[in-house]
Amino acid sequence: MEGSDRGKNRAPESAGRGLAASHANGAADDSPPASRRVHDPSAEGPLGLKRQDGALIISIEREERRNALSQAALEAFGAVFRYHLAPDDRAVIITGSGARAFCAGADLKERRGMSLDEVRAQLLRYRTDLAWLSTCPVPTIAAINGATLGGGLELALLCDLRVAAPHASFALPETSLGIIPAAGGTQSLPRIVGSAKARELILLGSRVSAAEALRIGLIHRICDAAVSVVDDALTWIAPITRGAPLAQRAALRALRAADRLDIDAGLEFERACYEECLTSEDRIEALNAFAEKREPIFKGR
Ligand code: COA
Repeated sequence: MEGSDRGKNRAPESAGRGLAASHANGAADDSPPASRRVHDPSAEGPLGLKRQDGALIISIEREERRNALSQAALEAFGAVFRYHLAPDDRAVIITGSGARAFCAGADLKERRGMSLDEVRAQLLRYRTDLAWLSTCPVPTIAAINGATLGGGLELALLCDLRVAAPHASFALPETSLGIIPAAGGTQSLPRIVGSAKARELILLGSRVSAAEALRIGLIHRICDAAVSVVDDALTWIAPITRGAPLAQRAALRALRAADRLDIDAGLEFERACYEECLTSEDRIEALNAFAEKREPIFKGR
């Protein structure tokens, strides 16, 4: 998603530079100018927002439709990136409201009334308003609190890390609805679980449990039933914040490049990412802290 897609979707770096920069760059979208919009820091459309321990937590608040992605929800995801992601955020956590579903995919009731062109436009929104997650300058975490179906699973696949509640389940049932997973699912799933498992999940529409998802590498861990999955996800923030911010960002860029580059180009890209860290103050601070037997104090420079 980096490289050629960066210009189209929003530069991850511009988000990292903060709200002023992201307002100023004026990338194409259908939102009114920022000056005419008021952004409630606790909500954006059907998304609830809060900050805890350095993480921006985004919750899809559509429990009555099992957190299905409506047009408004997709637009709200884009607006979160444009207006709410702050330079101090060290991670983004996405979850769903209630315990039944993380996200039941596209809002099938809304879609029933949509024209072909509206469906096409909605598909593009997955590539813009949602896909920023795969270029986000900080790690993104899916805190999976229940059923994760169709576009909901594709949303989780856009994240860097996935933790699930023990009762969560996963499926891409699109072909049974006469479509295919086209919010990136046919491309990202084989990269994550391998082509054989991806074929099984997409062609058979198989629903897998959290235990099976862990076994095949679809998720990173299952939280304890007695713990909220968001609280469990928050335990990842401490190790994330122990990393120097510039190094974390460079590591993310290099890892994501591995999904789209061949090995030679990937190694070259990795070297360029290393170079960005090499000249940073934080690298010197880490060496000094090691010599002085203390914790480094990173400044993100
Ligand atoms: N779009 C719109 N509404 C949805 C929805 C979706 N993707 N998924 C669920 N809902 C609605 C249901 O229609 C129902 O509405 P109603 O109360 O007006 O009848 C409500 O959410 C609750 O659904 P229900 O099936 O009763 O909840 P559940 O907790 O027993 O099961 C799911 C939850 C997600 C497992 C189940 O709803 C389901 O399989 N949904 C279909 C999801 C799907 O096929 N997604 C792929 C999209 S490509």
